[in-house]
Amino acid sequence: MIILTQSEATNYQLLDSGNGKKLEKIGNNTVVRTDSNCVWQPQLPAEQWQKASAVFTKKAGWQKQKNFKEPWLFTYQHPVTKKSIVCDLHLSQSKNIGVFPEQSAHWNWISEIIEKQKTAPQVLNLFGYSGMATMVAAAAGAEVCHVDASQAAINWARSNQQLSKLSTASIRWIIDDCAKFLAREIKRGKVYDGIIMDPPAFGRDEKGKVFEFEKHIYELLGLVKQIMRPKPLFFIFNGYSMGYSAMVLHNLLLDFYPQAKIECGELQLKEADGLRNLPCSLFARFK
Ligand SMILES: C[S@@+](CC[C@H](N)C(=O)[O-])C[C@H]1O[C@@H](n2cnc3c(N)ncnc32)[C@H](O)[C@@H]1O
Repeated sequence: MIILTQSEATNYQLLDSGNGKKLEKIGNNTVVRTDSNCVWQPQLPAEQWQKASAVFTKKAGWQKQKNFKEPWLFTYQHPVTKKSIVCDLHLSQSKNIGVFPEQSAHWNWISEIIEKQKTAPQVLNLFGYSGMATMVAAAAGAEVCHVDASQAAINWARSNQQLSKLSTASIRWIIDDCAKFLAREIKRGKVYDGIIMDPPAFGRDEKGKVFEFEKHIYELLGLVKQIMRPKPLFFIFNGYSMGYSAMVLHNLLLDFYPQAKIECGELQLKEADGLRNLPCSLFARFK
């Protein structure tokens, strides 16, 4: 099992955590969000937490303060092109703001693999959300197909593509349930070289179709296997809030790719003073 922490090449910092919350500086705003992992005590004085420009609590949702600045942008410096990949952050109905900075460890990894290829690899990003992994793969030279069931998420990702000055990048945007899309791609005989999939523990598409990890993941992996080339270039399988060990994701992948050298572990956020890591998500991956 391995632990990966966020890339240094972003404008994100985890300043402190504790008392069920985390204090994060992202670009020109500092925000406080609930996080049930943070059962320890904060290190920084309360005054520093009180200066936050927006606070999320389960009871009240987001509360914006007078010092909240807009536009609010997350940036990641692409390791190949050195250009900024940008996500326009929003205070949404949930505590999610559009980016999962811990995933930058995966973005560095896929960029390195993609840039070494002589021809543009075909990459599929399932449950793609606001498009960070899609844009990173496209900027590294891949032709990317991005799938998300939410029209709002696709609109958001497309506007991030413009903000990141990637309008000429090869990205196909698909609004659909991932399983339905995969079934269609199998019929068309489409083949992909690399996959990024980050399914939610529980999700619902706009027609009300439910995705439940425990019930649907095996079938989904079976569909993915049918559109992957026999020896995939890479496969990233990530997951949040599952209550499992990362070994569960490893063992699932092993059923479908018994020859692969799969590594698994946690994505964690390193605190700015370097003392603590905050666990965020599980992953299994291979190349
Ligand atoms: C946890 S987010 C993924 C995070 C993303 N990979 C990232 O790194 O930013 C979950 C996304 O899955 C989408 N989703 C949920 N159920 C879905 C389904 N059945 N088919 C396609 N997308 C779905 C949601 O709309 C949401 O954008």
